[in-house]
Amino acid sequence: MQTQLLPVSPDSLARAGEMIRAGQLVGFPTETVYGLGANALNEVAVKRIFEAKGRPGDNPLIVHISAVEQLLPLISVEPSPAARALMDACWPGPMTLIFPKSDVGPSAVTAGLDTVAVRLPAHPAARALIEAARRPIAAPSANRSGRPSPTTAAHVLEDMDGRIPLILDGGPCEVGLESTVIDITAETPRVLRPGGVTPEMIEAICGSAGVDPAVMRPLREGEVARSPGMKYRHYAPAGALTIVEGADEAVAQTIRRLYDEALTAGKRPLILALSGHMAAYGPRRALSLGADAAGMAHEIFARLRDADALGADALFAEAVPADGVGLAVMNRLGRAAAFHIIKAE
Ligand code: TXA
Ligand code: MG
Repeated sequence: MQTQLLPVSPDSLARAGEMIRAGQLVGFPTETVYGLGANALNEVAVKRIFEAKGRPGDNPLIVHISAVEQLLPLISVEPSPAARALMDACWPGPMTLIFPKSDVGPSAVTAGLDTVAVRLPAHPAARALIEAARRPIAAPSANRSGRPSPTTAAHVLEDMDGRIPLILDGGPCEVGLESTVIDITAETPRVLRPGGVTPEMIEAICGSAGVDPAVMRPLREGEVARSPGMKYRHYAPAGALTIVEGADEAVAQTIRRLYDEALTAGKRPLILALSGHMAAYGPRRALSLGADAAGMAHEIFARLRDADALGADALFAEAVPADGVGLAVMNRLGRAAAFHIIKAE
């Protein structure tokens, strides 16, 4: 299959909408990461997503809508007051809500669960594509399973060339991390996957917010994931990643030591550091992760791809405080490191 890469335009959107209606897959931009879209109401099309990604069939997809009215047919109970408040405040935007599902749509989308994940994205091209398709669009991130999520059309092409017919290029994604996934089926909204909508924001909107403990640690033996995606080691670079936390100077010192030891051991080490700290590593090979947690959200997946392209086999990354969007950054970095986080003395 030839994969076409087209800039977002009225023509390419109309074409992409037709392809979605015809059961084909389309890579498209959202404000978080690029999505791999299919008609959410067509079982054959949805199954193509799992094939193209190599995604385990028990990991459900997010259904994307372009207007709040499209939500009601997908769910089986009226949204709670907390859900309404979140929708009013954060949609369109980087937030996915988990609702009890209706029987609309194939069970492949929800992987047989009795809940459905729904998001109304802010990116105009994403909404225009849903409009053009005249159907809700099921879309995971457009990476091959186990690879970092794509934040540019070139990343999508890297992973999906020859596997899907069309990618819409809308430039780099604004947020750079996937949406916040919030379970609102219980009274207190609970963050299952942190993202651009932070627990602090949710608490301000709803009066309370919980964060699933599995956000910052691996699942325990026998523990059931509240979100199937928690089970899988996504975002894994080929090289072993160690995260170092602590005071700036202690972190730099520890990373320098670990890097030099790795080099002596014949490895190809690489440092991932905040832009303001790059000088602390002197001539060592280091990539900048941006200026702060928001910059890191934007850069992290592209830098993990770069690390693989450079053939790095021992990676050392600086931690950021796990508050605000920093929680989402540390969740992704933590998972890429299989939560191998050490404290700098
Ligand atoms: O920003 C995003 O959310 C991007 C863009 C394309 O919208 N999409 C995305 O999809 O990241 P994906 O499939 O890579 O991640 C969806 C996550 C997975 O961890 C999945 O397990 C979880 O949402 N999920 C989906 N449906 C769920 C459900 N009913 N209950 C719990 N978790 C669910
Ligand atoms: Mg994903």
